Amino acid sequence: MLTDAHHRIIDYVRLSVTDRCNLRCTYCMPEDMHFVQKNELLTDNEILTLLQLLAGTGISKVRITGGEPFLRAGLMTLLEKIKNIPGIREIAITTNGILTQPHISALRQLGITNINLSLDTLQADRFLQITRRNKFATVMATLESLLQHNMQVKINAVVMENVNTDELTAFTALTRENALSVRFIEEMPFNGQGHAFSGITWNYHKILETISSQYALQKISDAPHSTSLNYHIPGHKGNIGVIPAYSRTFCGTCNRLRISATGSMKTCLYGNDVLNVKEMMRDELHHNELLPAIQSAIHARFANGFEAEQHHTAKNMESMSVIGG
Ligand code: GTP
Ligand code: 5AD
Ligand code: SF4
Repeated sequence: MLTDAHHRIIDYVRLSVTDRCNLRCTYCMPEDMHFVQKNELLTDNEILTLLQLLAGTGISKVRITGGEPFLRAGLMTLLEKIKNIPGIREIAITTNGILTQPHISALRQLGITNINLSLDTLQADRFLQITRRNKFATVMATLESLLQHNMQVKINAVVMENVNTDELTAFTALTRENALSVRFIEEMPFNGQGHAFSGITWNYHKILETISSQYALQKISDAPHSTSLNYHIPGHKGNIGVIPAYSRTFCGTCNRLRISATGSMKTCLYGNDVLNVKEMMRDELHHNELLPAIQSAIHARFANGFEAEQHHTAKNMESMSVIGG
């Protein structure tokens, strides 16, 4: 079992399979984002070796992230192999929905039903402004198709001052007839642009207050280690949630480990890279030391994201597409 010095058990790995993306969300990356060469990515075999090792220590949930995961060639084949690793009980995917639709039936057949869809607006022109790409209709078609296939869909909407705060009601209204969850995320400083980030005005309190002025929110009990605080609205088929990603209220129960597409490991979203698993695996001399190195990095985790941030040595915050969300 992987545990840290604060008695937290780590049983969930967020694995980025590519840093590339087919959108350019302004809060995530610049238009001229630099992506790494393919040979710098973990190979399928390296991913499988790593996950086997982690599954042996009690990791049971894998979330596939990116960049945009479906840009990785052969993703479905890789997912099928991950599915067969003993000990991996759940695979979930976070996607922007552009290339997802053709794979929905196959995902269902693999038992992968937990899909988080990034969507920050319900307006086509605003989608173009936020993502710098004209793909709104494609993403909405994916959403419809996911629901038709009875997938468990969570929409992730980053709430941004002067951008989309007027859409909280429209997003909430989606949960009336659709059995999905809409999760409003506090904006984080990971925009890959070196912008000074002066903090947020729309924290989870303000988001909840705004929605409560129109809807009766009933708190529902959250899954253990949930990043979101979730609410039901009487008569609605779906739920809403808020993710205090900047306020970091959930660090005390954090069960997550992050591996970037190039094999960098983070034990906190706000912290430094603590290890490169790819370099260790490619180095014959050191690959046997990988598990002890992972264990000791996890043991040394900071208590929370604020402490990790204080010790973060990078001058500019990375893009979320590099960290993997
Ligand atoms: P579930 O597995 O469905 O609970 O999803 P998740 O919330 O773990 O994953 P998802 O990829 O949908 O992430 C939603 C938002 O929560 C993203 O903006 C993440 O970066 C943020 N988030 C996830 N894990 C952490 C974390 O450890 N710390 C912080 N501060 N934010 C996180
Ligand atoms: N702040 C908050 N959320 C972000 N995401 C990407 N960049 C940021 C940011 N700067 C979200 C995406 C995706 C999830 C993995 O992370 O919208 O849903
Ligand atoms: Fe791509 Fe996700 Fe970053 Fe948007 S937030 S540019 S969809 S990686």
